[in-house]
Amino acid sequence: MKPLCMLSLALTTTTSAQITYQNRTGTILRTDSGAYGPELEEYHYYYEQWPIGLAISSTGRFFASYTRGNYTFTLGEAVNKTAELPYPSAGLQLPVSHLNTSWNGIQFGSGNSTGLISVQALYITPENPRRPETLWVVDTGRPTIMGEGGMPVMPYAQPGGPKIIAISLTNDTVYATYTFPSSVHYPDSYMNDIRFDLRANITASGHGIAYIVDSSDEGRPGFIMLDLGTGSSWRRLTQHPSVLRVDRDVPSYQGQPFYQHSIGIPIQTLREGLDGLQISPDGETMYYSPLTSNYLYSIPTANLRASDSDPLSEQAASNNVTNLGQRGGNANGFEGDSNGLVYQLMPEHNAIYAYDPKTLLNHGVVRDPRIIWPDGASLGEDGYMYLNINQLPHQPNWNYGEDGRVFPGAVLRFKVPGWGKIVGLA
Ligand SMILES: *[C@@H]1O[C@H](CO)[C@@H](O)[C@H](O)[C@H]1NC(C)=O
Ligand SMILES: *[C@@H]1O[C@H](CO)[C@@H](O)[C@H](O)[C@H]1NC(C)=O
Ligand SMILES: *[C@@H]1O[C@H](CO)[C@@H](O)[C@H](O)[C@H]1NC(C)=O
Ligand SMILES: *[C@@H]1O[C@H](CO)[C@@H](O)[C@H](O)[C@H]1NC(C)=O
Ligand SMILES: *[C@@H]1O[C@H](CO)[C@@H](O)[C@H](O)[C@H]1NC(C)=O
Ligand SMILES: *[C@@H]1O[C@H](CO)[C@@H](O)[C@H](O)[C@H]1NC(C)=O
Ligand SMILES: *[C@@H]1O[C@H](CO)[C@@H](O)[C@H](O)[C@H]1NC(C)=O
Ligand SMILES: *[C@@H]1O[C@H](CO)[C@@H](O)[C@H](O)[C@H]1NC(C)=O
Repeated sequence: MKPLCMLSLALTTTTSAQITYQNRTGTILRTDSGAYGPELEEYHYYYEQWPIGLAISSTGRFFASYTRGNYTFTLGEAVNKTAELPYPSAGLQLPVSHLNTSWNGIQFGSGNSTGLISVQALYITPENPRRPETLWVVDTGRPTIMGEGGMPVMPYAQPGGPKIIAISLTNDTVYATYTFPSSVHYPDSYMNDIRFDLRANITASGHGIAYIVDSSDEGRPGFIMLDLGTGSSWRRLTQHPSVLRVDRDVPSYQGQPFYQHSIGIPIQTLREGLDGLQISPDGETMYYSPLTSNYLYSIPTANLRASDSDPLSEQAASNNVTNLGQRGGNANGFEGDSNGLVYQLMPEHNAIYAYDPKTLLNHGVVRDPRIIWPDGASLGEDGYMYLNINQLPHQPNWNYGEDGRVFPGAVLRFKVPGWGKIVGLA
């Protein structure tokens, strides 16, 4: 504490300029500009639907996903700087009237295993000798529908609805579809993001593996693994402390403490488990974290690949989780590069941070007041990181039905440091 006698000195100071906190013009004080890092370009504008996921192809084609809701399409491709159209076709998007069904008064998402219900995440893997460059589509099968009095409800999943779809970017055709048994994808699971290791020697079947995060707001988050050769799937780290949301966590967005105000339920805090994941360039390590947590974790991918037939697979996985410490805030999605950096989207800070395994520390990469909820990142072969900006905290479901978002949404991009390339593992 400073001595109180300083007070009289301060009171006798006279100022000619009346500088207030609303008007800083002419201030002599050091000021936070709200920005640092490389130049951030406005690459694309969204005017019709608020996006969630995005992916950039090797030739610069750009795809976006939109969770439903009442949007007419859930997967799109940008056709110019201000518009996207349904991809791969309008016909593949399940009509809004078919997104949900009910049984004995309980709402369920559609069980349609071919039509697109509600696409959360996208990821593009490079061409390899066994498959073309592929757009992978994560369909949660769980749209948000309006319950009584405008209360937002996310119905349970039916087997078939939650699925992973592979679309060839050579012929724009779906060439594989994977669904899950209800013992792996629970009715209240929510597949939030996906990463791949497509090397032939990583699985016995020789066609690679997908690592998926189940962020289940309702309570059983964990990893889901999918053998892309056999189509079999299994879980790991379900409800391990490292995948659970931190209860009653109150983040701040744009300098305001955030509580969720939803119609029909008491005020609550954001509840979201395992959300971000990123595989290391050598395929050996998986980095991950829940959304409402300040900690970053990792686990050897070998522990995630271990089959249920190994009675110690779950015990060994749990023992091999590493807590890499706090990173300086909550994080949303991740992306990575060939230098091993683990980029994390930091909605509280309007920033992208990166964990560097060489320094064991998190570093600020880029910050800008335009980054109002970064949701999804994709590193292109051009060395740019593309970010979806969707103003999510202002969405109606969190604000008593009032939509405070202002179009356009945006894709911003910046050149990643150190000439980082995409993590291929092809
Ligand atoms: C802000 O302050 C500057 C100088 O102190 C003054 O010239 C300007 O008119 C003020 N702007 C507003 C919007 O009040
Ligand atoms: C979806 O619902 C919102 C809110 O009720 C409404 O403003 C919007 O026009 C609807 N969009 C479509 C495509 O029906
Ligand atoms: C962008 O594409 C949309 C959809 O095809 C079209 O309506 C719009 O006119 C295009 N805008 C420009 C600037 O070309
Ligand atoms: C689907 O949900 C809507 C509310 O958004 C409801 O009006 C409709 O009845 C539901 N459909 C079925 C088949 O239950
Ligand atoms: C699933 O959805 C697709 C796309 O809307 C549709 O073509 C197909 O007939 C649907 N399948 C079933 C079994 O309803
Ligand atoms: C498109 O490409 C996929 C993957 O290479 C292939 O399996 C499929 O037969 C092709 N479909 C068409 C219609 O060309
Ligand atoms: C798998 O193949 C890659 C080359 O694609 C090699 O670097 C790696 O060591 C191999 N891994 C195993 C477990 O054999
Ligand atoms: C870590 O996992 C490996 C299997 O990949 C296992 O052999 C080892 O015992 C585990 N470590 C601990 C401390 O349990």
